[in-house]
Amino acid sequence: MYTARPLPALVHDLRRGFAARPRTVPSKWFYDEAGSALFDAICELPEYYLTRAERAILERHADDIVASAAPDELLEIGSGMARKTGVLLGAITRRTGHARYVPLDISAAALEGSARSIRAVVPGVAVDPLIGDFERDLPKLALSPLSRRRMWALLGSTIGNLDERAAPQLLASIAARMRPGDTFLVGMDLVKDVTVLQRAYDDAAGVTARFNKNMLAVINRGAQADFDLDAWTHRARYDAARARIEMHLESDRPQRVRLRALGATVAFERGERILTEISRKFTHETAASTLRDGGMRLVSWFPAADDGFALALAEAAR
Ligand code: AVJ
Repeated sequence: MYTARPLPALVHDLRRGFAARPRTVPSKWFYDEAGSALFDAICELPEYYLTRAERAILERHADDIVASAAPDELLEIGSGMARKTGVLLGAITRRTGHARYVPLDISAAALEGSARSIRAVVPGVAVDPLIGDFERDLPKLALSPLSRRRMWALLGSTIGNLDERAAPQLLASIAARMRPGDTFLVGMDLVKDVTVLQRAYDDAAGVTARFNKNMLAVINRGAQADFDLDAWTHRARYDAARARIEMHLESDRPQRVRLRALGATVAFERGERILTEISRKFTHETAASTLRDGGMRLVSWFPAADDGFALALAEAAR
């Protein structure tokens, strides 16, 4: 789906983000159709262990995860292609015989793909996709009938994209909408060897580099800009003190970029970086404290066999 009209939300984010230092663009702007396809390819990379680790945990523990809460509805925030959700929905339908699945995602292409694959893999599940932005459209997700017991899910380490302020904010807005009996399942990537982390975000085949640079194509289209994708280099490094990967785009030379939708031209120095993504890595302790800061209580912890990734099951603290 090709759109050449300016995207007001992108223009707004660019005005803010380009005024900051380092210049920053929110990572949700990776995910147009091409970006979603590139992320899909990342999930298959030998270096990108996250998706496989999370799926293995689900395959092993899905029944335990749904046993105590007994949800009959799954609300997935940032569902993407819903690669691993089928395992969870399978466990839910085995228990209840029926289930409703509401995926919320910013990418229409990803939503269509995920709805199709879930309907094929888990027959009998009602799928009601919602297109939207999880920092704004949560209220729509919360509208299900009062009789439903809901499991809210934020999988794939998406929470890692949110910093120490934004993560508790999102959790608090979820917690505020949770009803008694609702649970929250969140996938978190864990602190580990630096080399393993860096390779996961700077793969040998260069797929992550293309994913990162695709954001410039999204900006070119959505803000009528003229970024030259060949004049930027992908950078990914692990900041151990902050326990996070930072992805940047680094300007190969001094350059000026015209952004017509902003009515502005932005000058970049050689070596200047645009921060495009943070990806935080947790421990059991920082996971628990992040949940606590967001008004939730950690109930169960399901780590991968090698402790590289974990699913945390939580409830609203109240
Ligand atoms: C989809 C946000 C979880 O942070 O690991 C993958 C995105 N960025 N490679 C992540 C991503 C670079 C991914 N999340």
